[in-house]
Amino acid sequence: LRTIRWEEGRVLLIDQTQLPTSVCYIECRNAQSVANAIKALQIRGAPAIGVAAAMGLALTAHNSLARTTEELSRELVQSARLLRATRPTAWNLFWAADQVMRLANGYRGDVEGLRRVVVEMAISIAEEDIAANKAMGNYGASLIRDGDVLGTVCNAGWLATAGEYGTALGAVKVAKEQGKRVSVLALETRPVLQGARLTAWELKQDGIPVRVIVDGAVGYCVSKGMVDLFIVGADRIVARDGCYVFNKVGTYTAALVARRHDVPFYVAAPFSTFDFEHGVKEVVVEEREGREVSEVAGKRVVAEGVDVFNPAFDITPPHMVDGIITERGILYPPYSVSLQRFKH
Ligand code: MRU
Repeated sequence: LRTIRWEEGRVLLIDQTQLPTSVCYIECRNAQSVANAIKALQIRGAPAIGVAAAMGLALTAHNSLARTTEELSRELVQSARLLRATRPTAWNLFWAADQVMRLANGYRGDVEGLRRVVVEMAISIAEEDIAANKAMGNYGASLIRDGDVLGTVCNAGWLATAGEYGTALGAVKVAKEQGKRVSVLALETRPVLQGARLTAWELKQDGIPVRVIVDGAVGYCVSKGMVDLFIVGADRIVARDGCYVFNKVGTYTAALVARRHDVPFYVAAPFSTFDFEHGVKEVVVEEREGREVSEVAGKRVVAEGVDVFNPAFDITPPHMVDGIITERGILYPPYSVSLQRFKH
């Protein structure tokens, strides 16, 4: 259950655009092909994108013919620029690239040593992501009671991370391992259907009952008492302004509906998703091409000449989030206070 894998000079990743019809891997041999895969959503989900960026840099280090650390560092800077330009919202991408670049900038050994430590760091970012998700799953599962139906948006399962547990879905998996009967109501997540295509497939593989609804049905279903709690993932949590949650478009709507009907709304994300550097207004919300909206399965459904708008994410304010599940524990409001306790 690995989304992405380093194998001596190549990176293998599951092509998520082909799921659930077929499970196939693509091979990336340089940072450019990793960047292309990120842009095309062949690998997606904030933590997975972060791991991919680190592995893209590892490919640059591994393939480089540089004879000095300075030369290799320059190549890494170029690759980092390429990878950072792929998707603007997912913070883990920038976090992971920064981790590797900080290591490279501070490295004082020879070029062979730098090559080795960059590859090692990429592998350890993947391993640490899996460990963080497992810890998050344990904390998240403590919120789930026997028989609960969990609502979720997009895909925040193992496919969205380095592998194995995932963030929001990790809580469901651990709850199941604990013997609780738990099921999921998954929003299909237009326009590219991560909920319908990925979350439902993942849960089916794990033997966890799941029902898919169209995004517009969330109000009806929640008002009918069909959801006991929501757990969603996050692409970026802006810590400076009190923990605003950037996540797949539709999350804010689900949070509004949950609040209206007194259904608890939680976010699950590792600390690598927390942005301590920017304010909410500085974050770019990715706008993807209109074709994702105006076409369904390659067939145009919006009249020619009609404009569409396709924001990939939305922003849920902190006062609508009942708690943030992290690998260090669950943060409760006020987040500025609880973050101080958990930050280090
Ligand atoms: O556009 P995507 O598929 O990369 O968006 C992914 C999400 O919005 C996820 O909910 C988020 O990255 C958290 S995944 C653990």
